[in-house]
Amino acid sequence: MELNLKRQIGLFCVLLILPALCSAAFTKSRATYYSTSDGLGTPTGRCGYGDYGRTVDGGRVAGVSNLWRDGVGCGVCYQVRCTNPSLCSSNGTSLVVTDYGAGDRTDFVMSPAAFSGLGLNSTATDQLKKLGTVDIEYQRIPCSYPGQNIVIKIKESSTNPGYFSIVLLNVGGTCDVDAIQVSQSGSNTWIPLRRVDGAVFDISNPPSGSLSLRFQVDCGSGLVWKVPKNVIPANWSAGATYDTGIQF
Ligand SMILES: *[C@@H]1O[C@H](CO)[C@@H](O)[C@H](O)[C@H]1NC(C)=O
Ligand SMILES: *[C@@H]1O[C@H](CO)[C@@H](O)[C@H](O)[C@H]1NC(C)=O
Ligand SMILES: *[C@@H]1O[C@H](CO)[C@@H](O)[C@H](O)[C@H]1NC(C)=O
Repeated sequence: MELNLKRQIGLFCVLLILPALCSAAFTKSRATYYSTSDGLGTPTGRCGYGDYGRTVDGGRVAGVSNLWRDGVGCGVCYQVRCTNPSLCSSNGTSLVVTDYGAGDRTDFVMSPAAFSGLGLNSTATDQLKKLGTVDIEYQRIPCSYPGQNIVIKIKESSTNPGYFSIVLLNVGGTCDVDAIQVSQSGSNTWIPLRRVDGAVFDISNPPSGSLSLRFQVDCGSGLVWKVPKNVIPANWSAGATYDTGIQF
């Protein structure tokens, strides 16, 4: 019923008018998948999330190519559905971008958990997997991490003092993180971090003492600075995570 209605609307869009209404939501593209032993994502995704990138959103994750945007696309959430009505569920799957990935004219290289969400049932999913690459349509959706604040993960490559490298986890809504700055807590001297790759930012010789960060984000209405409630203690250590006390 719902599917028939959507198809009729789709036909209406192709044949007739209302381009604004019709183009509002989904973009047509293609998607494929990669294999993992447990069906979840990979901990080595280029966004730099580590194991979080394997398990976030139930392991429904993907690498992207055009949507990579020099790493700003990391952490963005999409609804993806395939378009063959005899094999594909009408809602498809949600997923989180955790990696770079390019296939044969694809926008998404999906984890098995994400790709399996495309099929109507397990038989259909098996057939989709045999096809390898399928026609899809996608739209950006808000990421939702209910009850969870944004967390600063200190990368294992960091050393205190001398080298400070981080990724942000649980960035919700439809927010792009464009820049991060650091200051010694209480000072008003902000120093930009460098985007290393993906979602990883770093700085050599960070200020000593406890650290304040601020994030320049675009949640759909232009660039704004967001300031965490919590500072990072002076004894910050590689591999540790610190709750910012805020969500976007
Ligand atoms: C599809 O998504 C809509 C909107 O989010 C939801 O109301 C509906 O229950 C979903 N249907 C299925 C089969 O998951
Ligand atoms: C899967 O869905 C297809 C299409 O609706 C149906 O023909 C088939 O019987 C289903 N298979 C299973 C195992 O439910
Ligand atoms: C780090 O410092 C905080 C206080 O700022 C203290 O509560 C915590 O125990 C210290 N952690 C370590 C591992 O020394």
